[in-house]
Amino acid sequence: MELTGINSTNQSYFDPLLFLDGEESDDVLILLGVIHAESPVAAAAFSIDVKGKVGRIVSIYTRPDMRRKKAATMLMNSIDVLAKHYKLLRMECYYTDNMNGLDAFFKARKFDTHQKNNVESVGVSDLLSNKPIQQMLNNKKPSSSVQKIGLIETNQKEALRKKIESNGYGSVGKGIDEDISMVALPRDECSAAILCSAETLETIIVTVMLLVSFTDNPSVTMGLLIEWIDLIVKQYGEEAQIDFYSVNPSVTSFIHSLATPKADVHVMYGEKSIY
Ligand SMILES: CC(C)(COP(=O)(O)OP(=O)(O)OC[C@H]1O[C@@H](n2cnc3c(N)ncnc32)[C@H](O)[C@@H]1OP(=O)(O)O)[C@@H](O)C(=O)NCCC(=O)NCCS
Repeated sequence: MELTGINSTNQSYFDPLLFLDGEESDDVLILLGVIHAESPVAAAAFSIDVKGKVGRIVSIYTRPDMRRKKAATMLMNSIDVLAKHYKLLRMECYYTDNMNGLDAFFKARKFDTHQKNNVESVGVSDLLSNKPIQQMLNNKKPSSSVQKIGLIETNQKEALRKKIESNGYGSVGKGIDEDISMVALPRDECSAAILCSAETLETIIVTVMLLVSFTDNPSVTMGLLIEWIDLIVKQYGEEAQIDFYSVNPSVTSFIHSLATPKADVHVMYGEKSIY
């Protein structure tokens, strides 16, 4: 097995193994790969906040048939060298506990890991079997109020970002630019938003980072949700899985009213100090 850097020339070769969620806001993003017998075996993305002296393992993945042969170890050894080079004080990573082997792997690398948040995981087919959703999808009239974020103006995106932050829904990273993020905008006023991204792991997982409504009118939120489900089905089919991250109690009960979550998935956080 041979370690290699990933650059614009060879990135497409490693793309099936790289899971990059939107753009990284950190200063430096370093991509690394492992090749064996002329095929890609493993890849990692490591981002560095130079000022804060923190390194983040954005993604690390080994092809299932090549696991337990130390490919990910090669990547992490090289990440450790980078951490020294950039004089980092700390390394961190986020992952979910349904990502096979990651928790054990990070623990073996002396990361301190703990649960950060719950994820409500729902199958698209289960959402579709909900009668009211089915009816609304069948009766769906074209809505001028729902737009994909990619289609709205930069200043509207900025207004949405401010609204989300000032309403205490947390800070919104560059993920707001994700292709399938959606927003409801009746009369130029942002009323509800769903920010999400999609990735193909062993199945297609659509990750909802934020589902938020700024209105008391439930039909606006429901309208957005119906358009969004329609889009997900068209784009990814009924086999996709939707993970709702960092859900607050009201969103949790809303999701439970639509479908029974499939499995308890947790967001994990791993951290390691560097001395
Ligand atoms: C976790 C993962 C990266 C490990 O890759 P790998 O190349 O198999 O790892 P290594 O062979 O270098 O393992 C090093 C050590 O980590 C630990 N480890 C790795 N996988 C493990 C597992 N499934 N169970 C228990 N320990 C494990 C072991 O201590 C192992 O050493 P050992 O084999 O001598 O016991 C790989 O299983 C994977 O890609 N899982 C899916 C992760 C994912 O979904 N990533 C996408 C989003 S970030």
